[in-house]
Amino acid sequence: MELQGKRILLGVTGGVAAYKAALLLRMLTSAGARVQVVMTEAATRFVTPVTFQALSGLPVYVDQWDAREANNMAHINLSRDADAILVAPASANFLARVAQGLADDLLTTLVLARDCPLLVAPAMNRQMWENPATQRNVALLRQDGVTCLGPVSGQQACGEEGEGRMLEPEDICEALIAHFTPKVLAGKQVLMTAGPTFEPIDPVRGITNLSSGRMGYALARAAARAGAQVTLVSGPVALPVPNGVTRVGVRSALEMHEAVMARATAAQLFIAVAAVADYRVDQVAEQKLKKELGGPPEIRLVPNPDILADVAALEAGPFCVGFAAESEQLETYAQRKRERKGVPLIIGNLIQDGFGGESNRVILFDAQGAHPLPLASKDQLAAQLVEEIAQRMAP
Ligand code: C5P
Repeated sequence: MELQGKRILLGVTGGVAAYKAALLLRMLTSAGARVQVVMTEAATRFVTPVTFQALSGLPVYVDQWDAREANNMAHINLSRDADAILVAPASANFLARVAQGLADDLLTTLVLARDCPLLVAPAMNRQMWENPATQRNVALLRQDGVTCLGPVSGQQACGEEGEGRMLEPEDICEALIAHFTPKVLAGKQVLMTAGPTFEPIDPVRGITNLSSGRMGYALARAAARAGAQVTLVSGPVALPVPNGVTRVGVRSALEMHEAVMARATAAQLFIAVAAVADYRVDQVAEQKLKKELGGPPEIRLVPNPDILADVAALEAGPFCVGFAAESEQLETYAQRKRERKGVPLIIGNLIQDGFGGESNRVILFDAQGAHPLPLASKDQLAAQLVEEIAQRMAP
């Protein structure tokens, strides 16, 4: 519910990508936004207003002279009511009209009458996009403070391949969420670990930890939304990489250690979320172990390096944050861990409160003591944690 309470005016203009605006609308409402749809006349040739009305639960506006408004000032009422105007798809014609300040239909009129941010997601044929006139118009819009989302390269409805494809609805939705997120980590390099590690025994077997990676990935997404450059060193999980996050895939704790140490001094913040195996197998068998070879194998374990403690020990290293998942005595163990690893902040949770699930209850442990946060979804929690961490970092 990252858009809870936000009022979005979704403008739909005439282009074949208009069918994707229905999906986008669904995502925006699922994220908690109240969405008022305004279509251009041309857009109604591609998708009818009924679809958007059904999905938004609100009547759709097309006509500048719509008599439903008591004062007949739909353009003022609608733009006054919005926290942001998002136009997707934005046709070449629409961009041209807005760039010139034209107001010859309801959508362009209310764009001109707005005092809220405007975001546009252009969608058009490759040649229309590359045309110097369109490029000039987009440059003007940017100068005027309009946020341009995409377009991207790819297969086009006309059969051509090239730039001009609208960003996918999930990416537009993500950009809008990021737009509303306070930029508490603006310009910061953030390094993170997430997921489990896998310690091989032989080519097909290994020792691992149970870790869905969800909390780490949610935090990486929240940090990126807050303006950070995020590098996520991830153990084996099958989660999608959040927008704007660079993922470095690793398998074992040693690989994770190496990937982190190579990047640690460039970061201002390191968040260790990974469930790192404490031990690895001393001698990894080159060939698959055979059970015919008599009796259970003896596996000798040796300790893995503590990645968090090693980063915390760096001179002029980043601000370090660790996690502690415990099954009992959370405060005692978490504070002990914080001191042993030499980190200013540990985020603790009881395993029974959040392990592998959608939500989590955590307590922050710092030099001042324990600060509990209320039960929340991992996404909400991630946003809150980013703010808590940013407050504790040196400016
Ligand atoms: O020592 P323990 O595994 O309980 O500590 C948990 C915290 O330390 C987590 O933040 C985890 O990512 C980090 N850690 C690490 N390297 C290890 C073990 C734990 O970075 N070898």
